[in-house]
Amino acid sequence: MFRGIRASVVLPRSAALALVLAAFELLIYSQFARELRTAVDNALRYQAEYAGYLFQHKNGDRELARLADRIVPHSALPSDRKLIRILGPDGDTLSEWGPADLKRANGVVSATHAIRSNEYAYETTVLGRSDLRFISLPVSGDRKLRYVVQVATPLDRMQATLSRMRFLLILCGVAMLSIMTAGGWFITGRALSPVRKMAATARRIGAGKIDERLVAPDSGDEIEELARTFNDMIDRLEGAYRQVKRFTADASHELRTPLTIMKGEIEVALRKARSPEAQEQVLRSALEEINHMSKIVDRLLTLARIDSGEAVLEMATVDLDETLRAACRQYEPLARARGCELVVRSASQSTVRGDKQRLMELVGNLLDNSIKYSPTGGSIEVTLSPRNHGFVISVTDMGVGIASKDLPRVFERFYRGQNSRTRHVQGSGLGLSICKWIAETHGGRIEVRSQIGKGSTFAVWLPSLAADVERFETAEAL
Ligand SMILES: Nc1ncnc2c1ncn2[C@@H]1O[C@H](COP(=O)(O)OP(=O)(O)O)[C@@H](O)[C@H]1O
Ligand SMILES: [Mg+2]
Repeated sequence: MFRGIRASVVLPRSAALALVLAAFELLIYSQFARELRTAVDNALRYQAEYAGYLFQHKNGDRELARLADRIVPHSALPSDRKLIRILGPDGDTLSEWGPADLKRANGVVSATHAIRSNEYAYETTVLGRSDLRFISLPVSGDRKLRYVVQVATPLDRMQATLSRMRFLLILCGVAMLSIMTAGGWFITGRALSPVRKMAATARRIGAGKIDERLVAPDSGDEIEELARTFNDMIDRLEGAYRQVKRFTADASHELRTPLTIMKGEIEVALRKARSPEAQEQVLRSALEEINHMSKIVDRLLTLARIDSGEAVLEMATVDLDETLRAACRQYEPLARARGCELVVRSASQSTVRGDKQRLMELVGNLLDNSIKYSPTGGSIEVTLSPRNHGFVISVTDMGVGIASKDLPRVFERFYRGQNSRTRHVQGSGLGLSICKWIAETHGGRIEVRSQIGKGSTFAVWLPSLAADVERFETAEAL
C-alpha cells in the first residue's frame, strides 16, 4: 500500500520532469548545433569571397598560391584544414590549393548550382570517414560568369563537439532525474513512515488490547488528523465495548442473586420432611424471587431493544391525567401493603403525544421506588401541572432520600444507591435508566432532587402537543 502511494506520488512527477528536461535539452542542443553550423558556413563564405577577390585582382593562379597563407585570416579555418579551388565557367578545375587528402573531394552539386543560378550554394559531402562542407561562390565580370570559387573544410571537429555536447546533456539529464526521483522517493518515504507505524499499532489493537492508542505525530498535518480521528473512533469503540462487558457482568450478577437464594431455600426444603405450611412458605418465597427475576429479565430485554434501536414508541395522543391515575391504581395495593398513602393532584387538560404504555411504565417505576424507599406509613404525592409548553409529573416521597454522591448517578444502568444496599431493598438498578430513556425519547427530561432523611422528588417534564416547535428552548423547563 505504501509502495503504492509512494510510487503514485513520485513516478508521475519524475515522468513530468523527464519530459520537461528532454524538451529543454533538445532546445539547447538544436540551438547550439545551428549556431555551430552557421559559424562554419559564415567562415566558408568569408573565405570564398576573399579568395575570389584576390584571384580576380591579383592575377589569379600564381597569386592564389602565393597568397594562400594570407587568405587564412579566419581562425575557424586553419590552412591545413581547408581546400580552395577555382573552377572555370564550365566547371573544370583551374587551380586548387590545400592538403592533398582534401583535394580528392568534389563539390559538384553546389558548383553546378552556382554556375546555373549565379548564386552561392552550400553542400555537405562525405570524404573518407568525415563529412566535408563546401561553398561554391560564382564570381562575375563584364556581366558574365568568370569562375567559381570553392572552399571546403572537414566537419569532424564540429561533429565531435556536438557529440560531446550530446553526451554531457544526456549525462546531466539522467543525473538530475535520478537525484530528483531518489530524493522524492526518500522524502515521501519519510512522510509516510508515521502512517506505517500507525498501521502497525492499529494491527495490535484488538479485542483484548483495546486500550492502546496511536501515537499522533505533532505535525499539524493530515496524518496527525488521521491519527486523532482514529483514536477518537477507538475511544468510542472502547466505551461501547466496556459498556457491553459491564452490562453482561452486571446482568448475570443481578440474576445470580435471586437464583442463589432460591437454590438454597429449595435445597434446605428437600433435605428434611417439612410441614405443608413450611413447604408453602418455600414456594411463596421462590415465586417472589421468580417475579423479581422476570422483572429484571423484562428490563434487560427493554434495554437490549433500546440499544439495538428496536425499541420504538407507539405514538398517539395520550391523556396524562388518565395515565397517571392508571399507574397509581396499579401501585395502590403495593402502597397499601406498606402502609403508604398515594396522594394525586392532577390537572384536567393534559394531552401529550406519546406512548401510553411507556409513560405508565415511567410513572410506575417512580412510584415503585418511592414506595420501596419510604418508611411504613409515609405519604407519596403525585402531581401533574402545566409548565413551560408542557407538563411536569412529579413524584415526591418522604423516604430515606438519596446521598449526594449517588444523586448524579442514579439514572445510570445498574447503578444502585447506598440506601438500597444498607436497607436491603430489592432491585436491579435499571428502573431509572429506563425512565430516563422514556422521558428523553418523548422529547422531555427527568430530574431528581433529594435530601437524606427528608425524601426525594423525581420530576419529568414532557412537551405538550403544540410544543414541538419550542422543544429546544426548554433547558430550564423544570
Ligand atoms: N424514591 C427514592 N428514594 C430514595 N432513593 C431512590 C429513590 N428512587 C431511586 N433511588 C435510588 O436510585 C437507585 C436507582 O434506582 P433504580 O434505577 O430504580 O434501581 P432500583 O430501584 O432497582 O434500585 C436506587 O438504587 C436508589 O438508591
Ligand atoms: Mg427502581
